[in-house]
Amino acid sequence: MNSYVNMGVGAFLGTVFVLMSVSIASEGIFHSEAPEKEGFAIISSEGATEAGGAEEVAEVDIKPLLLKADVAAGETAFKKCASCHTVDKGGANKVGPNLWGLVNRPIASHEGFSYSAGMKTFAEGGKVVWDYDHLSFFIEAPKKHVPGTAMGFAGVKKPDERANLIAYLREHADAPAALPDAAASAEAAPAAATEGAAEKPAEAPAAEAKPAEGHAAPEGQPAPAQ
Ligand code: HEC
Repeated sequence: MNSYVNMGVGAFLGTVFVLMSVSIASEGIFHSEAPEKEGFAIISSEGATEAGGAEEVAEVDIKPLLLKADVAAGETAFKKCASCHTVDKGGANKVGPNLWGLVNRPIASHEGFSYSAGMKTFAEGGKVVWDYDHLSFFIEAPKKHVPGTAMGFAGVKKPDERANLIAYLREHADAPAALPDAAASAEAAPAAATEGAAEKPAEAPAAEAKPAEGHAAPEGQPAPAQ
């Protein structure tokens, strides 16, 4: 008799022990710290260092830069976007819509994606398309260019990085949009032509790109007049 009681108690204690071990072990394995910030933390080397950077954005004409953009570098830069966007044909909508055929696509038009009210307003019912300027300004400072957008991304502040990105996106289309006309964009952007050197890292050795990662728009210098 006694031994049955002992066995019963032993079995019970054994079970309790196993359950406790499992719960302690799984706590150890699966315990996850609550994130300090909710949602995606988009670490942008530019945005992070530049408090209120969006306010100090210099409006740069992206078109001349596109003509000498580096698509391979754009692919690397796209890693910043890839957590939320696919770019391949027929790719899924993730947090953001698929970006195949983006250049000159009507804004907020990708099927199956539910855009924010801010983006829909900006699209004016599909009349406005993602031309090079809109893309550049939006990618530079999403919330500034499209108030109320749901795109939680600080922005890409370096003009040449944006050009590379846009060149990469441009190639992801059935029929890539025409590149801007060099002559026309030089004409349209006298500021970029005269101050252009400041935007070309190759020709602007010191003050600009190098010392402070993320000061693509030189502080203290007036923005190029448009
Ligand atoms: C944190 C997620 C996230 C990241 C990172 C992100 N996006 Fe987005 N993106 C979104 C969301 C969400 C929307 C939809 C915005 C809306 O409806 O207001 C969007 C919309 C867009 C659109 C408009 C598309 C359309 O169909 O009208 C473009 C263009 C775009 N993103 C480009 C980019 C690029 C380029 C990058 C990288 C430099 C990037 N995004 C990074 C979430 C993101």
